[in-house]
Amino acid sequence: MAHLNQEEIIAEVKRNNEIVSVISEYVTLKERGRSHLGLCPFHQEKTPSFTVSRDKQLYHCFGCGAGGDVISFIMQLENLTFPQALRFLAERANLDVSLSALETPGMKKAKQEQEWVFRLHHLAAAYYRKVLSDPAMGRKARAYLEARGIKPQTVEEFFLGYAPPSWTALVELLRKKGISLDRAEKAGLVIGGAEGFYNRFRDRLIFPIMTPQGKTAAFGARIMGEGQPKYLNSPDTPVFHKGKYLYGLYQAREAIRAAGKAVIVEGYLDVIQAHQAGIEYVVASLGTALTRDQIKTLKRYTQQVVIAYDADSAGQAATVRGLDLLRQEGVDVRVAKLPAGDDPDTLIKREGKEAFVQTIAEAKDLFSFKLEYLLQHAEISTAEGKAKAVKKVLPLLARVDSVVAREAYIKTLAQEIGVSEEAIYIEWRRFWDNLRKNKQRLDIRQAARYTKPEFTQTNNSFRLTQNSGVLSNTKGETTNFQLEREVLRGCLQENNNLERINEALSGIKWSNQQYEALFDNLLHIAEVGGDWPPTESKINPELRFLFAELMAENELSPLPVDLEGCFRQIKRNQLIREIQQIQKEIAVTAEEKEGKPLSSGELQEKLLLLNELHKQLRQEFSSFSGLI
Ligand code: GTP
Ligand code: MN
Repeated sequence: MAHLNQEEIIAEVKRNNEIVSVISEYVTLKERGRSHLGLCPFHQEKTPSFTVSRDKQLYHCFGCGAGGDVISFIMQLENLTFPQALRFLAERANLDVSLSALETPGMKKAKQEQEWVFRLHHLAAAYYRKVLSDPAMGRKARAYLEARGIKPQTVEEFFLGYAPPSWTALVELLRKKGISLDRAEKAGLVIGGAEGFYNRFRDRLIFPIMTPQGKTAAFGARIMGEGQPKYLNSPDTPVFHKGKYLYGLYQAREAIRAAGKAVIVEGYLDVIQAHQAGIEYVVASLGTALTRDQIKTLKRYTQQVVIAYDADSAGQAATVRGLDLLRQEGVDVRVAKLPAGDDPDTLIKREGKEAFVQTIAEAKDLFSFKLEYLLQHAEISTAEGKAKAVKKVLPLLARVDSVVAREAYIKTLAQEIGVSEEAIYIEWRRFWDNLRKNKQRLDIRQAARYTKPEFTQTNNSFRLTQNSGVLSNTKGETTNFQLEREVLRGCLQENNNLERINEALSGIKWSNQQYEALFDNLLHIAEVGGDWPPTESKINPELRFLFAELMAENELSPLPVDLEGCFRQIKRNQLIREIQQIQKEIAVTAEEKEGKPLSSGELQEKLLLLNELHKQLRQEFSSFSGLI
């Protein structure tokens, strides 16, 4: 396939990656007539509005507007660039492609480096395993594992090994094989010192950290006995950094799919002990707060996660980002409560598999868990303490979507703290109102809406009577942002609109750079001629995303755009904005001149202009009556 050009490669990759089957790996889809429906992976929702069309090989979310083809789906979900997504899909379909046509020299070099790190780790892991099974050299380590209740078969399953106390054993091995020690240093296996290279890991148990596909990317190495650090990890390398992988996922991934859930524990030995006990849907975050990388990976396998950290860290974890991040990513998070002083390893060893399974089954939803944690750590014997505790809980309540659930939580909260439900409701209302106001303010800023200062005229002097209030677009009116999007969608629906649109929109400021850029791009393409709508390859790469979204929207909900209506509204909004801007200026001038007679020529001019604009507005939009 090396002889294919980029467009042909794209076509080949798409032909071999049927969109429903690709998306099904991430989203549970149900067949609905001619299309498939599921919960959108790009925003949080409870009722499915994410549509995939097998006929058209496109997806579109009616909730958030995300949409495109199989390539843009992978770009968005796996967070990849266009060429990376192509390669990802080519590999998925086992296409025999050296996609070198798409690779920059920098990318090729980086890939080679990564391959080297993997290869060296493969070699080192085999070496550590051999040492562990060596009758003499591995005796101490095997005894340690046995004492911790880990069976030989489990040792195999997790490819555990032992790094001997020697300072140079691995160095020698690599040297003998003719492997560059600089490279081995880059891979984190050896360290270069004044007296030459020496082994990073010495006299430690070795836990290979693997990619979900089973390639060894790094090592965790535990000291056997007391000492610091307890665990020594590989440094950052071209394939590894802290928080990149979940320990045990390679061994757990099938069980996670089968069980429909994953349990996240903290440590290597917690994973290993759980697997040995037959609970195989367990992975470890390895002592860090969950990272976006880890969550993204896990989401390929399940949307249900139970956190089973030991009691202290669970509380900590709840207050740090990891769990909220999971929730934001649309994962259903629950938190299991281990007995104080236990981690899964000790719990399973002492009380057996069932005890851990039960703990997992009794896991609480995030809110209940946080509530309990907050209340345990709050001083609720005093009136002041009670007030404080309630204040802390309010932001949690705001994240509860269901009114019924919220009511139940408020009841619990009232009982726990020992105040009336009414009191909490009052606090909640107040909090919610404030939140809404702030959110409105934010929305207004985001949509680049303008505010209108209100003023009254008294004795020839203007006076601001209130803080700026919001004038337009609060009551479900369409913003220019949305209108412009519609216009672009209309552009793609038919070619000859473009000229007309260009004429009609001349002098209008786009509210969004991307929209403006795409419009320019389309104009250029239209000038050259050819099929319409144009193919994605003709679109500027930075705009392809938006383009794909709009195309998918057109394909899957092909309502014709009411361009006339859009123009009128855009124009009207623009006039209103100008009027508001002038009113604001007048108000400011008036304020500066407060008390003095209004004779300023500047101000008079502005008032005239204002009048003029109002007139235009009335003429053009006779139905309009909102301003004066
Ligand atoms: P055991 O003490 O052998 O049962 O190990 P554990 O896995 O239960 O360890 P622990 O609960 O103390 O820590 C949880 C996880 O945090 C470990 O599995 C490591 O990933 C990480 N961790 C703990 N101590 C260290 C350390 O000293 N250095 C580093 N880098 N990570 C550590
Ligand atoms: Mn432990």
